[in-house]
Amino acid sequence: MDSVGIVIARRPPSESAFEFELEGDAAPGDFVEVPVEAGALVARVVRVRVENQYLAEAGVVRELRLGLRLPSAAALASAEVRVAKAEALGIVSGGSVLPPIQAPSPGSRVYRAAPETLRSLLGLAEGGVKLGRLWRHGLEVELDPERLFRHHAAVLGSTGSGKSYTCGVLAEEALERGLSVVVLDFHGEYSALGERYRTRVVRANQVKLEPGAVSPDAIADATEMTDVQRDLLYLAFDEAEGPTLGDVERAAGRVAERYGFKRETLLAVLRRLRMLRAQRVFTGEGEPLFLSVGEAVVVDLGLGMPGGVTRALAGAIAWWLFEGRRAGEQPPFLLIADEAHRLLPQGERAFSKTALRLVAREGRKFAASLVVASQRVVGLDKDVLSQCGTKIALRMDSPTDLAMLKPLLGKHARLLPRLPTGVALVAGVAVGYPVLVEVRRRRTSHGGSGSPLFAR
Ligand SMILES: Nc1ncnc2c1ncn2[C@@H]1O[C@H](COP(=O)(O)OP(=O)(O)O)[C@@H](O)[C@H]1O
Ligand SMILES: [Mg+2]
Repeated sequence: MDSVGIVIARRPPSESAFEFELEGDAAPGDFVEVPVEAGALVARVVRVRVENQYLAEAGVVRELRLGLRLPSAAALASAEVRVAKAEALGIVSGGSVLPPIQAPSPGSRVYRAAPETLRSLLGLAEGGVKLGRLWRHGLEVELDPERLFRHHAAVLGSTGSGKSYTCGVLAEEALERGLSVVVLDFHGEYSALGERYRTRVVRANQVKLEPGAVSPDAIADATEMTDVQRDLLYLAFDEAEGPTLGDVERAAGRVAERYGFKRETLLAVLRRLRMLRAQRVFTGEGEPLFLSVGEAVVVDLGLGMPGGVTRALAGAIAWWLFEGRRAGEQPPFLLIADEAHRLLPQGERAFSKTALRLVAREGRKFAASLVVASQRVVGLDKDVLSQCGTKIALRMDSPTDLAMLKPLLGKHARLLPRLPTGVALVAGVAVGYPVLVEVRRRRTSHGGSGSPLFAR
């Protein structure tokens, strides 16, 4: 094992933290281990300080500058010490993990944590989901697929930090395991999954979605109905003799008269339903979406339609898939909602939110998993975020978003603003402790780079 230093006693080591004189290479976030009686005490470097007793006093530095007093260059260099502070995480003993209950003895050697020790500490699974490598450690991070997928995950980070790329990696891992994957794709970034996996790209408006088989909320959202228009629509849904838009339109006429809705309300509702017909959405045309085992379905949401319509379509598709899963008509699946803030606006009514909340809350029971990716944390539905057992946080700049994530990610959240693209802080049920992971390279291309801005 690589020795990286020796425990010092200037501040007495305790069972929760200790300092060591650093002789090798270690940086904040790195894992180290120290042998203690009960096993290997694993700790994490939280800070490295460089000290030099000669240069501690401004007066001495000034004399040095003026050439008045000159310790030899060798003396100066040898007086430099680096002191690392480490926080104890646990004691690994024969494959099991105890809380850190013993302090390391001053004078003990500190080693870079061995792969086996880390695997035990972090609860990494042989043959698990290969997300990438532990940053600066090289250890392959394999996450238990049950814990990662069944408990849902959120991928968060600024634009360009690597969210969609990471979602692509998760999709690949799910497909490698024979899980069906559905991607709600606003930017046409996921069709390249077809380079290696059975993949269908479907346009959201070509999925057969009959009003009667969806929820009136989807229709009301798509057409931005007011409350009173919604009231009429709900009654018409109950009254409709069949599942089509035409059935709902006819029922609306009858219901409006029976309950005394104003004529302009009826006209407004009918006009909205006709608008759907003109846009050819929720008309019941197209192919119903049935997943097949181990296949990827990329739902193209880049339709150039009004945001409300696109959002309602995405919600209706998620809802259809989940209800199908619940009824045993769809295989277990992983639903990836990229740009999830568009579907999960905090404090705004949206059927897509109802649908994704349903998957988030009930999906565990029915093997319907959800991954949401978003550049916003504040502004993303708290319900869904809190149901995501694993948080995968990439580079993030917004102070308000960081403040919100801090309680979930611990003090390493402060590294987030400066993380390189593709490096993620992973925390939650899939890992024993928050870890930095260099997300692995894709097996298929990462699409959707768009047209170049400049000709050369
Ligand atoms: N893990 C990674 N390895 C290599 N390149 C990556 C990785 N993650 C992201 N990238 C690169 O960074 C760019 C931005 O990533 P992307 O996932 O599209 O960002 P976001 O979805 O967060 O806006 C991509 O073009 C991709 O090539
Ligand atoms: Mg993206």
